[in-house]
Amino acid sequence: MEENQITPMPRIGDKAPSFSAVTTQGEINFPADYSGSWVILFSHPADFTPVCTSEFITFASMEKQFEEAGCKLVGLSVDGLYSHIAWLRTIKEKIEYKDMKNVEVNFPLIEDITMEVAQKYGMIQPGESSTKAVRAVFFVDPKGIIRAIIYYPLSLGRNFDELYRALIAMKAADEFSIATPADWQPGDDVIVPTAGSCGVAKERMENKKDMKCYDWFFCTRPIAKNTVLKKVLKQ
Ligand code: BEZ
Repeated sequence: MEENQITPMPRIGDKAPSFSAVTTQGEINFPADYSGSWVILFSHPADFTPVCTSEFITFASMEKQFEEAGCKLVGLSVDGLYSHIAWLRTIKEKIEYKDMKNVEVNFPLIEDITMEVAQKYGMIQPGESSTKAVRAVFFVDPKGIIRAIIYYPLSLGRNFDELYRALIAMKAADEFSIATPADWQPGDDVIVPTAGSCGVAKERMENKKDMKCYDWFFCTRPIAKNTVLKKVLKQ
């Protein structure tokens, strides 16, 4: 890349920028290797640091849960491969955190000493740090499209239950052509698409069927938890 060239940050709805990288699980081609599956690409500031260690133990402990929801995980930091390997070995051999111990990180962790990938994904945010990636999370769908992006600063560990909730909610939105309200969890009512005409708005208010309408533009309907989980989890 030319010096001072500004890479535009990827946005929701963009195709995930492609790259090849060396990882702790061998070389990967992103997002091509993940075609047909959801994948979360996330960055952390540095190996052998406390917040990141708590995050890796937590995320790795939930890897099977994400796998069962059809989602793979890929990590990245501006560290070298041998640092990554040593850190992941330390996590497995020495760290016990909140009843999690012996945790093996089986998902790939990208070495990005050159910051090439981190720059491509807007993970280097100089106001926060010009040498470390912020805590970025990119949800990429089976077609390689970025569907959600979350950024946290260096000092703030992520909530991985929220990442899981967001994944399930996006998959449910795709499967059932609905939207999900604040704090939605499987089993809660979902939002039906807003009425697009005066006729539909009138009908909504007069003939609510199984819907609950707070007003013409805000209607929900129930979907059973099992119905959601059957669709969004791998059988
Ligand atoms: C941490 O993971 O603890 C951390 C990393 C970089 C800056 C601040 C905290």
